[in-house]
Amino acid sequence: MQKLVIRGGRRLEGEITVQGAKNSALPIAAATLLCDGVSRLENCPRLSDVYAACRILTNLGCHCEMQGNVVTVDASSMHASEIPEQFMCEMRSSIIFLGAVLGRMGSCTLGYPGGCELGPRPINLHLQALRRMGVKIREENGVLYCTTPNGLHGAKIHLRFPSVGATENILLAAVTASGETTITNAAREPEIVDLVCYLRACGACISGEGTGTICISGVKRLSGCTYRIMPDRIVAATWLAAVAATGGEILLRQVRCADMASILDVFEEMNCHVSAGEDSIRFHTGKNLHPVGLLKTMPYPGFPTDAQAIMMAALCRANGTTLVEETIFENRFRHVDALVKMGADIQVAGRVAAVHGVKNLHGAAVEATDLRGGAAMMIAGLCASGETIIHDVYHIDRGYETPEEVLRSIGAEIIRK
Ligand code: EPZ
Repeated sequence: MQKLVIRGGRRLEGEITVQGAKNSALPIAAATLLCDGVSRLENCPRLSDVYAACRILTNLGCHCEMQGNVVTVDASSMHASEIPEQFMCEMRSSIIFLGAVLGRMGSCTLGYPGGCELGPRPINLHLQALRRMGVKIREENGVLYCTTPNGLHGAKIHLRFPSVGATENILLAAVTASGETTITNAAREPEIVDLVCYLRACGACISGEGTGTICISGVKRLSGCTYRIMPDRIVAATWLAAVAATGGEILLRQVRCADMASILDVFEEMNCHVSAGEDSIRFHTGKNLHPVGLLKTMPYPGFPTDAQAIMMAALCRANGTTLVEETIFENRFRHVDALVKMGADIQVAGRVAAVHGVKNLHGAAVEATDLRGGAAMMIAGLCASGETIIHDVYHIDRGYETPEEVLRSIGAEIIRK
């Protein structure tokens, strides 16, 4: 198992071009199944989750290859509709292939995606919606057997919670279904908008993306196209949080500032200086980091749950207390123990963590607990005195392209062993 070794306390400065968004590349990779001909996805991040998505496409009979940051998919030879258990275990977000496989093949068999480090990850909203669209679903021994005996048809669907994955699965099932589908209380995340832009470029008829109501008129066929994946707003936030925690100055290139309004707002409240351009951010810290009172995660456009752990790592150095409330996932404070081991002063009560800023953190040996928790430990290690060793780096590799190379390029002392 690989580890990252960090010697903290270095000032970070320089320029970073932000990678493509994992949480856009994954649903768009699934969407290529619906298209005749070839799709060429540019700016795909080189991540273990993206490699896993390519393996699923290949297993379904598609021609799929990744060269550099370009994934090319030809789904014309697709012949299977089963997603084997090992893929579901390897990446629980494989559930977003369900809607696309149903749209293309009319049936799908896949293992029930279990919970993960963040807690139970139910898919009831996905299944309720698909049933309304004509999908018959039988669950036996942890396997979902999905069929569409009378074909997929449009439906009016209200989501009790604006689930990102459920919105994506409904979109992927609806774009070639017969008739109209309306989703109310849909997820509004930028990654949903990116998926819709790709589908529209392939010939889909969709409106309302980015609002709570999305309307889809099913079309007969979609044709593959070349599409550039959006920048990753959470990775961008991670690099900003690293600079906020350690002090310094950074220029981020290839970011969409409009996607990051709630994140940039928090950094400004922390006394960081943010100069946002069209697709770049110049950023530096003030003399001291300030606490922000209450930081509450919410569905988009609220503060994103995926940025909670990384912001908490920076707030460990603020000159005061911040209450962090995690409203999206049950168990998303698993990084707190490691931060406390490094000298942070944090108390957790249920879904609220009280982060009392301290002057210094010190290095320690810790284990990454999940993707964003591991990123939080990187940030803490960068601003801690001494050496930090982060084990189980595979968690971080799911979402960050060569993080040690990126951080070294702005002055960090970090190596992978
Ligand atoms: C997506 O997960 C992201 N993953 C997550 O990013 C992100 O944290 C999450 O959206 C919220 O923004 C990908 O895009 C691959 P949800 P998803 O469905 O779709 C409950 C990362 O770090 N829920 O919006 O699984 C669920 O339990 C990952 O990159 C139901 O109750 O998120 C959770 O509490 C982590 N029933 C909440 O909704 C359902 O049927 C949010 O889930 C579905 C969800």
